[in-house]
Amino acid sequence: MQSYIDLKRFNTLQLPAVAREFFQADSREQLIDILRANGASSQPLLLLGGGSNLILTDDYNGLCLRINSRGVESQSLSDDRVRVTVQAGEPWHQFVDYCLQHCWYGLENLALIPGTVGAAPIQNIGAYGVEVKQYIDQVEVWDRQLQQLRRLDNDECQFGYRDSVFKTAQRDRYVIVSVSFTLPTLFTPVLAYGGLADLLPQSPTARQVFEAVVDVRQRKLPDPQCLANVGSFFKNPIVTQLQFERIKAEYPDLVAFPDLGGVKLAAGWLIDRAGWKGVREGAVGVHIHQALVLVNYGGATGEQLLALASRIQADIKQRFDVLLEIEPRVI
Ligand code: EPU
Repeated sequence: MQSYIDLKRFNTLQLPAVAREFFQADSREQLIDILRANGASSQPLLLLGGGSNLILTDDYNGLCLRINSRGVESQSLSDDRVRVTVQAGEPWHQFVDYCLQHCWYGLENLALIPGTVGAAPIQNIGAYGVEVKQYIDQVEVWDRQLQQLRRLDNDECQFGYRDSVFKTAQRDRYVIVSVSFTLPTLFTPVLAYGGLADLLPQSPTARQVFEAVVDVRQRKLPDPQCLANVGSFFKNPIVTQLQFERIKAEYPDLVAFPDLGGVKLAAGWLIDRAGWKGVREGAVGVHIHQALVLVNYGGATGEQLLALASRIQADIKQRFDVLLEIEPRVI
Protein backbone atom coordinates (compact mmCIF):
# COMPACT_ATOMS: atom_id res chain seq x y z
CA MET A 1 0.00 0.00 0.00
CA GLN A 2 1.30 3.46 -0.88
CA SER A 3 0.10 6.85 0.35
CA TYR A 4 -0.51 10.12 -1.49
CA ILE A 5 0.13 8.92 -5.04
CA ASP A 6 -0.45 11.21 -8.02
CA LEU A 7 -2.80 9.42 -10.43
CA LYS A 8 -1.73 11.49 -13.44
CA ARG A 9 0.19 8.65 -15.08
CA PHE A 10 -2.62 6.19 -14.35
CA ASN A 11 -5.36 7.97 -16.36
CA THR A 12 -5.14 8.46 -20.12
CA LEU A 13 -6.40 12.07 -19.88
CA GLN A 14 -3.35 12.67 -17.63
CA LEU A 15 -5.42 14.69 -15.17
CA PRO A 16 -3.77 15.40 -11.82
CA ALA A 17 -5.35 13.94 -8.66
CA VAL A 18 -3.74 12.56 -5.52
CA ALA A 19 -5.08 9.30 -4.04
CA ARG A 20 -4.79 9.08 -0.25
CA GLU A 21 -4.01 5.36 -0.54
CA PHE A 22 -2.96 3.37 -3.60
CA PHE A 23 -2.55 -0.33 -4.18
CA GLN A 24 -1.79 -2.24 -7.36
CA ALA A 25 -3.14 -5.80 -7.44
CA ASP A 26 -0.85 -7.80 -9.75
CA SER A 27 -2.76 -11.07 -9.44
CA ARG A 28 -6.26 -12.37 -8.90
CA GLU A 29 -5.28 -13.50 -5.39
CA GLN A 30 -3.91 -10.07 -4.45
CA LEU A 31 -7.06 -8.46 -5.78
CA ILE A 32 -9.36 -10.67 -3.74
CA ASP A 33 -7.19 -10.31 -0.61
CA ILE A 34 -7.25 -6.52 -0.71
CA LEU A 35 -10.99 -6.46 -1.36
CA ARG A 36 -11.59 -8.79 1.56
CA ALA A 37 -9.40 -6.64 3.81
CA ASN A 38 -11.04 -3.37 2.73
CA GLY A 39 -14.47 -4.83 2.88
CA ALA A 40 -17.23 -2.42 3.78
CA SER A 41 -19.00 -1.11 0.72
CA SER A 42 -19.42 2.24 2.47
CA GLN A 43 -15.67 2.93 2.28
CA PRO A 44 -14.65 4.96 -0.78
CA LEU A 45 -12.90 2.79 -3.37
CA LEU A 46 -11.69 4.01 -6.75
CA LEU A 47 -11.02 1.24 -9.24
CA LEU A 48 -8.52 1.74 -12.00
CA GLY A 49 -7.87 -0.48 -14.98
CA GLY A 50 -6.23 1.30 -17.89
CA GLY A 51 -7.70 4.62 -16.68
CA SER A 52 -9.05 5.22 -20.17
CA ASN A 53 -12.65 6.02 -19.26
CA LEU A 54 -12.21 8.29 -16.29
CA ILE A 55 -12.29 12.03 -15.62
CA LEU A 56 -10.60 12.94 -12.34
CA THR A 57 -11.70 16.32 -11.04
CA ASP A 58 -10.25 16.30 -7.52
CA ASP A 59 -7.97 14.46 -5.11
CA TYR A 60 -9.31 11.09 -3.95
CA ASN A 61 -9.75 10.72 -0.20
CA GLY A 62 -9.85 6.94 -0.12
CA LEU A 63 -8.24 3.81 -1.58
CA CYS A 64 -7.42 3.71 -5.29
CA LEU A 65 -7.07 0.09 -6.41
CA ARG A 66 -5.28 -0.50 -9.69
CA ILE A 67 -6.24 -3.85 -11.19
CA ASN A 68 -3.36 -5.53 -13.01
CA SER A 69 -4.29 -9.22 -12.60
CA ARG A 70 -3.42 -11.42 -15.58
CA GLY A 71 -4.40 -14.78 -17.03
CA VAL A 72 -6.43 -16.33 -19.84
CA GLU A 73 -8.00 -19.79 -19.65
CA SER A 74 -10.01 -21.57 -22.32
CA GLN A 75 -12.34 -24.51 -22.50
CA SER A 76 -13.79 -26.00 -25.67
CA LEU A 77 -17.61 -26.09 -25.52
CA SER A 78 -18.25 -27.76 -28.87
CA ASP A 79 -16.74 -28.00 -32.36
CA ASP A 80 -17.46 -24.35 -33.01
CA ARG A 81 -17.50 -22.59 -29.64
CA VAL A 82 -15.00 -21.93 -26.90
CA ARG A 83 -15.35 -20.39 -23.45
CA VAL A 84 -12.54 -18.00 -22.59
CA THR A 85 -12.11 -16.67 -19.05
CA VAL A 86 -9.88 -13.66 -18.64
CA GLN A 87 -8.61 -11.92 -15.50
CA ALA A 88 -9.70 -8.28 -15.23
CA GLY A 89 -6.29 -6.63 -15.60
CA GLU A 90 -5.44 -8.07 -19.03
CA PRO A 91 -5.04 -5.25 -21.58
CA TRP A 92 -8.02 -5.39 -23.95
CA HIS A 93 -6.25 -4.98 -27.28
CA GLN A 94 -3.66 -7.65 -26.45
CA PHE A 95 -6.50 -9.99 -25.53
CA VAL A 96 -8.24 -9.42 -28.88
CA ASP A 97 -4.96 -10.18 -30.65
CA TYR A 98 -4.47 -13.32 -28.52
CA CYS A 99 -7.98 -14.51 -29.52
CA LEU A 100 -7.15 -14.22 -33.21
CA GLN A 101 -3.89 -16.13 -32.70
CA HIS A 102 -6.00 -18.96 -31.25
CA CYS A 103 -8.72 -18.73 -33.97
CA TRP A 104 -11.34 -17.48 -31.51
CA TYR A 105 -13.44 -14.91 -33.32
CA GLY A 106 -15.99 -12.14 -32.77
CA LEU A 107 -13.91 -9.48 -31.04
CA GLU A 108 -11.81 -8.33 -34.04
CA ASN A 109 -13.99 -5.22 -34.64
CA LEU A 110 -13.13 -4.12 -31.09
CA ALA A 111 -9.38 -3.94 -31.81
CA LEU A 112 -7.32 -1.09 -30.36
CA ILE A 113 -9.91 -0.02 -27.78
CA PRO A 114 -7.84 1.20 -24.84
CA GLY A 115 -8.33 -0.18 -21.34
CA THR A 116 -8.54 -3.57 -19.69
CA VAL A 117 -10.76 -6.64 -20.07
CA GLY A 118 -12.33 -5.94 -16.66
CA ALA A 119 -13.39 -2.47 -17.78
CA ALA A 120 -14.97 -3.69 -21.03
CA PRO A 121 -18.34 -4.78 -19.53
CA ILE A 122 -18.72 -1.56 -17.49
CA GLN A 123 -19.47 0.61 -20.49
CA ASN A 124 -20.24 -2.30 -22.82
CA ILE A 125 -17.48 -1.25 -25.22
CA GLY A 126 -18.55 -1.14 -28.84
CA ALA A 127 -17.17 -0.23 -32.24
CA TYR A 128 -17.73 -0.95 -35.93
CA GLY A 129 -21.03 -2.76 -35.45
CA VAL A 130 -20.06 -5.00 -32.51
CA GLU A 131 -20.71 -4.60 -28.78
CA VAL A 132 -18.86 -6.72 -26.23
CA LYS A 133 -22.16 -7.80 -24.62
CA GLN A 134 -22.76 -10.07 -27.63
CA TYR A 135 -19.91 -12.33 -26.47
CA ILE A 136 -20.01 -12.02 -22.67
CA ASP A 137 -21.23 -15.13 -20.98
CA GLN A 138 -20.60 -14.27 -17.31
CA VAL A 139 -18.90 -11.58 -15.28
CA GLU A 140 -17.26 -12.67 -12.04
CA VAL A 141 -17.43 -9.96 -9.39
CA TRP A 142 -16.43 -9.32 -5.82
CA ASP A 143 -19.70 -8.27 -4.19
CA ARG A 144 -18.75 -5.59 -1.62
CA GLN A 145 -22.16 -5.82 0.00
CA LEU A 146 -22.18 -9.60 0.53
CA GLN A 147 -18.38 -9.83 0.88
CA GLN A 148 -18.06 -12.73 -1.53
CA LEU A 149 -17.32 -13.70 -5.11
CA ARG A 150 -20.33 -14.03 -7.41
CA ARG A 151 -21.02 -14.71 -11.07
CA LEU A 152 -23.47 -12.52 -12.93
CA ASP A 153 -24.85 -13.88 -16.18
CA ASN A 154 -25.34 -11.71 -19.25
CA ASP A 155 -28.92 -10.67 -18.35
CA GLU A 156 -27.97 -9.62 -14.83
CA CYS A 157 -25.36 -7.26 -16.27
CA GLN A 158 -28.22 -5.20 -17.83
CA PHE A 159 -26.17 -4.18 -20.84
CA GLY A 160 -27.26 -1.22 -22.94
CA TYR A 161 -25.55 1.20 -25.31
CA ARG A 162 -22.37 2.21 -23.42
CA ASP A 163 -24.14 1.10 -20.26
CA SER A 164 -24.47 -1.72 -17.70
CA VAL A 165 -25.35 -2.43 -14.08
CA PHE A 166 -21.66 -1.74 -13.25
CA LYS A 167 -22.00 1.86 -14.39
CA THR A 168 -25.37 2.65 -12.88
CA ALA A 169 -27.48 0.71 -10.37
CA GLN A 170 -24.65 -1.20 -8.61
CA ARG A 171 -21.73 1.08 -9.38
CA ASP A 172 -20.09 0.87 -5.96
CA ARG A 173 -21.18 -2.67 -5.16
CA TYR A 174 -19.34 -4.84 -7.67
CA VAL A 175 -15.66 -5.13 -8.52
CA ILE A 176 -15.08 -7.08 -11.71
CA VAL A 177 -12.57 -9.88 -11.11
CA SER A 178 -12.78 -11.81 -14.40
CA VAL A 179 -14.89 -11.99 -17.55
CA SER A 180 -15.98 -15.15 -19.40
CA PHE A 181 -16.68 -14.96 -23.11
CA THR A 182 -18.23 -17.52 -25.43
CA LEU A 183 -16.52 -17.12 -28.80
CA PRO A 184 -17.10 -18.86 -32.14
CA THR A 185 -14.21 -20.75 -33.70
CA LEU A 186 -15.62 -20.14 -37.17
CA PHE A 187 -15.19 -16.62 -38.51
CA THR A 188 -18.16 -14.52 -39.72
CA PRO A 189 -17.15 -10.98 -40.68
CA VAL A 190 -19.24 -8.00 -39.50
CA LEU A 191 -18.58 -5.28 -42.05
CA ALA A 192 -21.76 -3.22 -42.27
CA TYR A 193 -20.52 -0.25 -40.24
CA GLY A 194 -19.29 2.95 -41.89
CA GLY A 195 -17.11 1.98 -44.80
CA LEU A 196 -15.28 -0.96 -43.19
CA ALA A 197 -16.15 -3.22 -46.13
CA ASP A 198 -14.58 -0.69 -48.56
CA LEU A 199 -11.21 -1.17 -46.89
CA LEU A 200 -11.24 -4.96 -47.27
CA PRO A 201 -11.18 -7.64 -49.97
CA GLN A 202 -14.33 -9.67 -50.78
CA SER A 203 -13.97 -12.39 -48.15
CA PRO A 204 -11.57 -10.99 -45.59
CA THR A 205 -9.86 -12.98 -42.88
CA ALA A 206 -10.37 -12.03 -39.24
CA ARG A 207 -6.79 -10.74 -39.15
CA GLN A 208 -7.54 -8.44 -42.10
CA VAL A 209 -10.65 -7.07 -40.32
CA PHE A 210 -8.57 -6.53 -37.16
CA GLU A 211 -5.93 -4.66 -39.15
CA ALA A 212 -8.52 -2.52 -40.98
CA VAL A 213 -10.11 -1.51 -37.65
CA VAL A 214 -6.68 -0.67 -36.22
CA ASP A 215 -5.97 1.40 -39.31
CA VAL A 216 -9.26 3.39 -39.17
CA ARG A 217 -8.91 4.03 -35.44
CA GLN A 218 -5.31 5.18 -35.83
CA ARG A 219 -6.37 7.62 -38.52
CA LYS A 220 -9.40 9.02 -36.68
CA LEU A 221 -8.63 8.78 -32.98
CA PRO A 222 -5.65 10.28 -31.17
CA ASP A 223 -3.28 7.80 -29.49
CA PRO A 224 -3.58 8.48 -25.74
CA GLN A 225 0.20 7.91 -25.45
CA CYS A 226 0.77 10.95 -27.67
CA LEU A 227 -2.25 13.17 -26.94
CA ALA A 228 -4.15 12.62 -23.69
CA ASN A 229 -7.81 11.60 -24.22
CA VAL A 230 -10.49 9.06 -23.24
CA GLY A 231 -11.94 8.29 -26.69
CA SER A 232 -15.53 9.45 -27.16
CA PHE A 233 -16.29 12.08 -24.53
CA PHE A 234 -20.05 12.03 -25.14
CA LYS A 235 -22.54 9.28 -25.95
CA ASN A 236 -24.32 9.41 -29.27
CA PRO A 237 -27.75 10.77 -28.20
CA ILE A 238 -30.88 8.76 -28.91
CA VAL A 239 -33.83 10.96 -29.91
CA THR A 240 -37.41 10.33 -31.01
CA GLN A 241 -38.30 9.95 -34.69
CA LEU A 242 -40.09 13.31 -34.44
CA GLN A 243 -37.04 15.09 -33.03
CA PHE A 244 -34.87 13.49 -35.70
CA GLU A 245 -37.19 14.68 -38.48
CA ARG A 246 -37.24 18.19 -37.08
CA ILE A 247 -33.44 18.45 -37.05
CA LYS A 248 -33.12 16.68 -40.43
CA ALA A 249 -35.50 19.22 -42.02
CA GLU A 250 -33.13 22.01 -41.03
CA TYR A 251 -29.87 20.08 -41.54
CA PRO A 252 -30.37 17.55 -44.37
CA ASP A 253 -26.79 16.22 -44.01
CA LEU A 254 -27.41 15.11 -40.37
CA VAL A 255 -25.76 11.72 -39.69
CA ALA A 256 -28.04 9.30 -37.82
CA PHE A 257 -28.71 5.58 -37.41
CA PRO A 258 -31.92 3.75 -36.53
CA ASP A 259 -31.83 2.51 -32.94
CA LEU A 260 -34.06 0.45 -30.68
CA GLY A 261 -35.32 3.41 -28.65
CA GLY A 262 -35.63 5.85 -31.60
CA VAL A 263 -32.87 7.37 -33.73
CA LYS A 264 -29.20 7.59 -32.69
CA LEU A 265 -27.55 10.83 -33.80
CA ALA A 266 -23.81 11.07 -34.45
CA ALA A 267 -22.72 13.39 -31.63
CA GLY A 268 -19.46 13.94 -33.51
CA TRP A 269 -21.47 15.35 -36.42
CA LEU A 270 -23.50 17.68 -34.14
CA ILE A 271 -20.36 19.03 -32.43
CA ASP A 272 -18.52 19.33 -35.73
CA ARG A 273 -21.47 21.11 -37.42
CA ALA A 274 -21.63 23.51 -34.48
CA GLY A 275 -18.06 24.54 -35.30
CA TRP A 276 -16.22 22.99 -32.35
CA LYS A 277 -13.90 20.59 -34.19
CA GLY A 278 -10.28 21.62 -33.59
CA VAL A 279 -11.23 24.40 -31.14
CA ARG A 280 -8.61 24.80 -28.42
CA GLU A 281 -9.11 26.63 -25.13
CA GLY A 282 -5.83 26.78 -23.22
CA ALA A 283 -4.71 23.26 -22.33
CA VAL A 284 -7.94 21.55 -23.47
CA GLY A 285 -9.60 21.19 -26.85
CA VAL A 286 -11.73 19.28 -29.31
CA HIS A 287 -9.70 16.89 -31.45
CA ILE A 288 -8.99 18.07 -35.01
CA HIS A 289 -10.11 14.80 -36.69
CA GLN A 290 -12.96 13.60 -34.43
CA ALA A 291 -15.20 16.14 -32.71
CA LEU A 292 -16.42 13.55 -30.20
CA VAL A 293 -12.98 13.39 -28.58
CA LEU A 294 -11.79 16.03 -26.10
CA VAL A 295 -8.06 16.24 -25.46
CA ASN A 296 -5.60 17.50 -22.85
CA TYR A 297 -2.70 19.19 -24.62
CA GLY A 298 -0.74 19.06 -21.36
CA GLY A 299 -1.25 20.47 -17.88
CA ALA A 300 -5.07 20.61 -17.93
CA THR A 301 -7.26 19.90 -14.91
CA GLY A 302 -10.49 17.93 -14.85
CA GLU A 303 -12.36 21.16 -14.06
CA GLN A 304 -11.06 22.84 -17.23
CA LEU A 305 -12.07 19.86 -19.32
CA LEU A 306 -15.55 19.73 -17.81
CA ALA A 307 -15.94 23.48 -18.34
CA LEU A 308 -15.28 23.00 -22.07
CA ALA A 309 -17.68 20.03 -22.10
CA SER A 310 -20.39 22.19 -20.49
CA ARG A 311 -19.98 24.90 -23.11
CA ILE A 312 -20.31 22.30 -25.87
CA GLN A 313 -23.37 20.74 -24.22
CA ALA A 314 -25.05 24.16 -23.85
CA ASP A 315 -24.35 25.04 -27.48
CA ILE A 316 -25.69 21.72 -28.82
CA LYS A 317 -28.79 22.11 -26.66
CA GLN A 318 -29.36 25.61 -27.97
CA ARG A 319 -28.73 24.80 -31.66
CA PHE A 320 -30.34 21.36 -31.99
CA ASP A 321 -32.33 21.01 -28.75
CA VAL A 322 -30.40 17.81 -28.00
CA LEU A 323 -28.80 16.84 -24.68
CA LEU A 324 -25.32 15.37 -24.86
CA GLU A 325 -24.46 12.98 -22.05
CA ILE A 326 -20.85 12.59 -20.89
CA GLU A 327 -19.71 9.02 -21.52
CA PRO A 328 -16.70 8.41 -19.20
CA ARG A 329 -17.06 8.27 -15.44
CA VAL A 330 -16.58 11.59 -13.63
CA ILE A 331 -14.94 11.29 -10.19
N1 EPU B 1 -18.69 12.83 -37.77
C1 EPU B 1 -18.52 14.11 -38.18
N2 EPU B 1 -17.54 14.87 -37.60
C2 EPU B 1 -16.74 14.39 -36.63
C3 EPU B 1 -16.91 13.07 -36.20
C4 EPU B 1 -17.90 12.30 -36.78
O1 EPU B 1 -19.22 14.60 -39.07
O2 EPU B 1 -15.89 15.14 -36.14
C5 EPU B 1 -19.68 11.99 -38.41
C6 EPU B 1 -18.98 11.09 -39.42
O3 EPU B 1 -19.19 11.58 -40.71
C7 EPU B 1 -19.64 9.76 -39.28
C8 EPU B 1 -20.44 9.84 -38.02
O4 EPU B 1 -20.28 11.13 -37.47
O5 EPU B 1 -20.51 9.54 -40.34
C9 EPU B 1 -20.01 8.78 -37.03
O6 EPU B 1 -18.62 8.93 -36.76
P1 EPU B 1 -17.69 7.68 -36.37
O7 EPU B 1 -17.84 6.59 -37.34
O8 EPU B 1 -16.31 8.23 -36.15
O9 EPU B 1 -18.30 7.13 -35.05
P2 EPU B 1 -18.89 7.84 -33.76
O10 EPU B 1 -20.36 7.67 -33.73
O11 EPU B 1 -18.37 9.24 -33.65
C10 EPU B 1 -18.82 5.68 -32.31
C11 EPU B 1 -18.27 5.27 -30.97
C12 EPU B 1 -16.78 5.03 -31.06
C13 EPU B 1 -16.51 3.94 -32.09
C14 EPU B 1 -17.10 4.39 -33.43
C15 EPU B 1 -17.01 3.30 -34.48
C16 EPU B 1 -19.71 6.26 -29.28
C17 EPU B 1 -19.86 7.30 -28.20
N3 EPU B 1 -18.57 6.28 -29.97
O12 EPU B 1 -18.23 6.93 -32.61
O13 EPU B 1 -16.34 4.58 -29.79
O14 EPU B 1 -15.14 3.70 -32.23
O15 EPU B 1 -18.51 4.69 -33.27
O16 EPU B 1 -17.91 2.30 -34.19
O17 EPU B 1 -20.62 5.45 -29.47
C18 EPU B 1 -15.45 5.29 -27.69
O18 EPU B 1 -16.48 4.88 -27.17
O19 EPU B 1 -14.53 5.83 -27.01
C19 EPU B 1 -15.30 5.22 -29.14
C20 EPU B 1 -14.27 5.75 -29.77
